[in-house]
Amino acid sequence: MSETAAQRTTPGTDLTITSSDFTKIHFTHEQIQARLAEIGAQIDSDYAANPPLFVGVLKGAVMAMADLQRNVTLPIETDWMAVSSYGSGTKSSGVVRILKDLEADLLGRDVLIVEDIIDSGLTLSWLLSNLKSRGAKSVEICTILRKPEAAKVTIDVKYVGFDISNDFVVGYGLDYAERYRNLPFIAVLAPHVYSE
Ligand code: IMP
Ligand code: MG
Repeated sequence: MSETAAQRTTPGTDLTITSSDFTKIHFTHEQIQARLAEIGAQIDSDYAANPPLFVGVLKGAVMAMADLQRNVTLPIETDWMAVSSYGSGTKSSGVVRILKDLEADLLGRDVLIVEDIIDSGLTLSWLLSNLKSRGAKSVEICTILRKPEAAKVTIDVKYVGFDISNDFVVGYGLDYAERYRNLPFIAVLAPHVYSE
């Protein structure tokens, strides 16, 4: 297994992360930030009249929420939700349990859900109808990653960072068994990690 190295791009540091746990760096920190700057500008223009309530889905969307919001100049509000999808292994079933609910009242609000990744789409599809049923004026989605080939349901996604193939990716909030969320980049997980 060859080692994949990535330069951490945080200003003021020159730490290199080298690991055989990844087969490749899919998106560098700079690529992610550049895309979030574009999406942030789009949100500024789309929601100029009605600044939205950002709803981050824990834990995967923590990095995306922090970086995306720094690219939005509107007076937005922030809330968080944690959900768990029943299913076998890494596949979600669409049957969702709320682990942490919102504090905000959604009545009449324009809501923007921020997610790390859309795989089958089952979790988000459930979340979408759940939030709509609370009387929100609009509920839209922003996701950093989407796997179009894995889609089991069609959902309207307003903002997509990047479309990717069915590789299992980690980093920038995304985990495998709760690890790798802290990586500043998005990498493809090496198959040997699953079997350890
Ligand atoms: P869905 O209901 O199948 O769309 O499930 C989406 C959830 O599965 C995401 O919020 C992630 O927690 C997880 N997931 C799907 N694909 C990946 C991946 O490639 N890496 C890490 N987590 C993933
Ligand atoms: Mg998630």
